[in-house]
Amino acid sequence: MHSTNFMAKFCFVTGFLLVMTIGQGYLQTALAVTAIQYNQNLGTGINLGNALDAPKEGEWGVTLEADYFRLIKEAGFSHVRLPVRWSSHAGLQAPYRIDPVFTERVRWAIKQARQNNLRVVLNMHHYEEFEVDPDAHRERFLALWKQISEEFKNESIDQVAFEIYNEPAKKIRAAFWNQLFAEALAMVRKNNRDRIIVVGPVQWNSVTALDTLQLPDDKNLLVTIHYYEPFHFTHQGAEWVGAESKNWLGTTWSGSAEQIAALKSDFDKAQKWADAHQRPIYLGEFGAYSKADMPSRAKYTQAVRENAAQHGFSAAYWEFCSGFGAYNPVIHSWRKAIRDALIPTKAGH
Ligand code: GLC
Repeated sequence: MHSTNFMAKFCFVTGFLLVMTIGQGYLQTALAVTAIQYNQNLGTGINLGNALDAPKEGEWGVTLEADYFRLIKEAGFSHVRLPVRWSSHAGLQAPYRIDPVFTERVRWAIKQARQNNLRVVLNMHHYEEFEVDPDAHRERFLALWKQISEEFKNESIDQVAFEIYNEPAKKIRAAFWNQLFAEALAMVRKNNRDRIIVVGPVQWNSVTALDTLQLPDDKNLLVTIHYYEPFHFTHQGAEWVGAESKNWLGTTWSGSAEQIAALKSDFDKAQKWADAHQRPIYLGEFGAYSKADMPSRAKYTQAVRENAAQHGFSAAYWEFCSGFGAYNPVIHSWRKAIRDALIPTKAGH
């Protein structure tokens, strides 16, 4: 009698706990947006480039202003990608502490975006020493993510995504990158269980390197690609590419059948990969440098944006108010041809 009573209580309590556990699991699954939904919500965004990704903010001519976020929202963008050079604001020895003043500056930028109802893709950008000697910087790379993930773990999972590294290239090879990404992800998952994490392939996030990307079994990943083809058009006169880029000056882009076919074919490849691997695609950067002529830039920008949308990719233009700038900060005005190419509803205004 006594033991039956005990068993009944035991079953009741265990059953209750089981229901609670399943219930909680269900609740969390139901609340977390799926990667596919998140990608749709990102829509069209813009990179706040050359600001927090410069060695020091302002050194490359861009210091973020609260007004920029309002302007971006009003123009019709739905997210900002925030490139951040954490490596020039952190200690060189363990525990590689990130300067808290810099962290607060990044927090300020996220807050401005959030107050303007813009989603945020927060990344790590231009850790140049890591690209040159990945093995030597592996531990520091992970230590930076440990701190970033802890600092920003309370940001809404519906609004803020983390991108582990912009354009892994140079000495960062695929096998190394796949392994390091898996480690970084496992660490970030400790305090950001359901956050959307963005990851792209080596070779500057190129479409052609997608096949080398091997991802852990994690449903909350967005895969990013960057698109600057034809490179001689988009990077004509780009000082950071090298002296030969001067020879490309005058290259135009008219949106000819052949040019559109090349663009479509590249995006078809990315989409094929995405379908095969069941991953949504985020085109995190595209655009043409200001040395190209404006009609070509506008046509190109519109064609890439439209093709991305047709392929189901979300996209972010590179970038807001610097060398590729959609906005001219000197005269406080959008470059209408580019803005209209990005946000069709504004055309004619
Ligand atoms: C990459 C680089 C950035 C550059 C852009 C266009 O994002 O990190 O510095 O401006 O591509 O070349």
